Amino acid sequence: MLRDSDRIFTNLYGFHDWHLKGAMARGDWNGTKDILAKGRDWIIEEMKNSGLRGRGGAGFPTGVKWSFMPKTEGPRPHYLVINADEGEPGTCKDREMMRFDPHKLIEGALIACFAIGAHAAYIYIRGEFVREAEHLNIAIDEARAAGLLGPNACGSGWDCEVYVHRGAGAYICGEESALIESLEGKKGQPRLKPPFPAGVGLYGCPTTVNNVESIAVAPTILRRGAAWFAGLGKPNNTGTKVFCISGHVNTPCNVEEEMGIPLKELIEKHAGGVRGGWDNLLAVIPGGSSVPMLTKQQCEEVTMDFDALRAMRSGLGTAAVMVMDKSTDLVRAIHRLSRFYWHESCGQCTPCREGTGWMSRMMGRMVTGDAELSEIDLLEEISRQIEGHTICALGDAAAWPIQGLIRAFRPEMERRILDRQAKTQAA
Ligand SMILES: Cc1cc2nc3c(=O)[nH]c(=O)nc-3n(C[C@H](O)[C@H](O)[C@H](O)COP(=O)(O)O)c2cc1C
Ligand code: SF4
Repeated sequence: MLRDSDRIFTNLYGFHDWHLKGAMARGDWNGTKDILAKGRDWIIEEMKNSGLRGRGGAGFPTGVKWSFMPKTEGPRPHYLVINADEGEPGTCKDREMMRFDPHKLIEGALIACFAIGAHAAYIYIRGEFVREAEHLNIAIDEARAAGLLGPNACGSGWDCEVYVHRGAGAYICGEESALIESLEGKKGQPRLKPPFPAGVGLYGCPTTVNNVESIAVAPTILRRGAAWFAGLGKPNNTGTKVFCISGHVNTPCNVEEEMGIPLKELIEKHAGGVRGGWDNLLAVIPGGSSVPMLTKQQCEEVTMDFDALRAMRSGLGTAAVMVMDKSTDLVRAIHRLSRFYWHESCGQCTPCREGTGWMSRMMGRMVTGDAELSEIDLLEEISRQIEGHTICALGDAAAWPIQGLIRAFRPEMERRILDRQAKTQAA
């Protein structure tokens, strides 16, 4: 279990003052100038050595991403874009960090900007997060008034501004290139890659896009050292992580824990256990709605990190753990998610635009049992034709939960169809 002294988010539950004074008392903005004085290369190297992998879902190493930015600023300015869209169902960590620890994000924004040669950061925040946007703006004003942000930020000689931009509520605007389009005032539709944002990003300029948590943990990593962060968790899956545990547990919560904590321990120690006891567990979606579910048996063994979950053909994603007990109608639950992806598809690619609708309608028939048995294979085949054949990963996200259901609970899908057929014949 993570020691309190290793906790990064010391105000995750909002018990303390989130304003500058309270944040500074907890160690934020401590020695920021000295960190910047060590230079860009040192910061990037230290971030690489920490092993931090992006907390937005894909787990790309943050230091490596920063190193992709051009070394010197040419005619095009550099930008940092912080992804605070947090649209993934089940995920509610970034909002708590912004509401109760906004200074961590703003200090992280300054350091990241400096490391990638940017003088401006945009925080693209989900429109519904009204209070969070308010807190961020207040925290930015506080930091500016204290000389920590703005011209000659922290007396470092580096000018840096942070702007909050509120989104209008589309899940797809969380995808980094759709987010950039939206920030530019256009419809939020993902761009074809390459070029990647580090080459051509916001306003056609070199841009780094990072999740809120990835940026918010950076100052503590640099203060305490890469070796400290790398010493937590598991090799290639280092550090701490905020997990969001929801669903059929006794005490749903957000909790910061070490990467690689066993899933069972996470649920039992922090979320009060599964409703009705561990044996009442049916399945868990371990990383936000986009990743395949795990069976109870898999949940007994799996640890919560990128590699272990991938080995179980699921994923850590956003680390939003959705627990489902035996009262859950899993087919209906996955149908609900498939409707979500259908609704949120931006419509640019045919496999996603058409396929999400097909899958959702077929899943609807699986719920009532009105499908044919052969449609289970057809559904799987459609999901395979979407997966990997689209501009962005929303197509994969729509396909994976369905593939996971078929893989783990095919007999349940068949039972429904056979029951329905038997009832129709009897009538
Ligand atoms: C459909 C879709 C939605 C996404 N939504 C979010 C989101 O809400 N927040 C986020 O940080 N990343 C989201 N991502 C991932 C981003 O594209 C990007 O990988 C991430 O912001 C990079 O940050 P990181 O390297 O710090 O993880 C989404 C990706 C897809 C395909
Ligand atoms: S995969 Fe779907 S959401 Fe992504 S670009 Fe294509 S149509 Fe749009």
